[in-house]
Amino acid sequence: MRPVAVLASRVRYEEKRIFAALERRGVPYAHVDTRRFSAELGREAASAGPPYAVALNREISHSRGLYASMLLEARGVPVVNRSGVIAVCGDKLRTSLELERAGVPTPRTAVALTPEEGVEAAERLGFPVVVKPLTGSWGRLAAAVRDRDAAQTVLEHRAALPSPLQHIVYLQELVDKPGRDIRVIVAGDKVVGATYRYSDGWRTNAARGARSEPCPLTPELVEPAMLAARAVGGGVLGVDLIEGPEGPLVLEVNHNVEFRGFQDAHGEDADVADAIVSHVLEAA
Ligand SMILES: Nc1ncnc2c1ncn2[C@@H]1O[C@H](COP(=O)(O)OP(=O)(O)O)[C@@H](O)[C@H]1O
Ligand SMILES: [Mg+2]
Repeated sequence: MRPVAVLASRVRYEEKRIFAALERRGVPYAHVDTRRFSAELGREAASAGPPYAVALNREISHSRGLYASMLLEARGVPVVNRSGVIAVCGDKLRTSLELERAGVPTPRTAVALTPEEGVEAAERLGFPVVVKPLTGSWGRLAAAVRDRDAAQTVLEHRAALPSPLQHIVYLQELVDKPGRDIRVIVAGDKVVGATYRYSDGWRTNAARGARSEPCPLTPELVEPAMLAARAVGGGVLGVDLIEGPEGPLVLEVNHNVEFRGFQDAHGEDADVADAIVSHVLEAA
């Protein structure tokens, strides 16, 4: 059997757990460091056939991860997650459009194509609002803005950033949530489990020090999470939700799930790495 490729430049806690899960099952695998990855294009190179039975993409760099999936797909390798999924999840606007199309409940969202128009769009949405970068994670550069004056300041800073992508303004109503959010981990058609993430600040990312605790799986939660995972194309995904006054709202879908907090919270009751490996072997 051709080996399973695990793509990652950095081997974190998560990748170590995944390697261990593969070893427990006796599955041959190769760790592919994407910094040492290249592929020749053209018919001749393609005729050698797929080099791996399947690939699990755990690359933390967005561009390397996206193009690695694309290149392997072109060689006929099934990849988790597929490049199309990475492209959608890596962009909050593209994610929102897919969620809207699938009828997934989300906070009210608006997008302006310049920082100046962003101030007007925020005013129309109604303060307080959250301004988020289209790309990025861990809550970085997301700002809670409570009035027009603050919006002007934040968006003037945005305008000063060199990347044209930073001038596209993605805005959401700031949902009054109960000091926590919810992360649901999905692998294919299965929900692996969910955690609450508690934090003192309004951004409840585990990477910002939020505390993870097990969250019971209810249909009210599983339904929008699965709908969101399917809307972006499916795979191994982390769906972020917050509890709005009328029920859970999906914030985003993460294509490169970190699960240390989740695993610590659930202990023996869940094995994320094993669920990921199961799904990857099904995709082979
Ligand atoms: N519209 C919102 N209302 C309330 N809290 C929000 C909102 N959007 C984001 N947050 C908080 O900020 C965190 C980061 O937002 P998220 O959309 O998940 O982006 P990131 O990619 O940075 O994780 C969320 O986990 C949540 O706690
Ligand atoms: Mg998030």
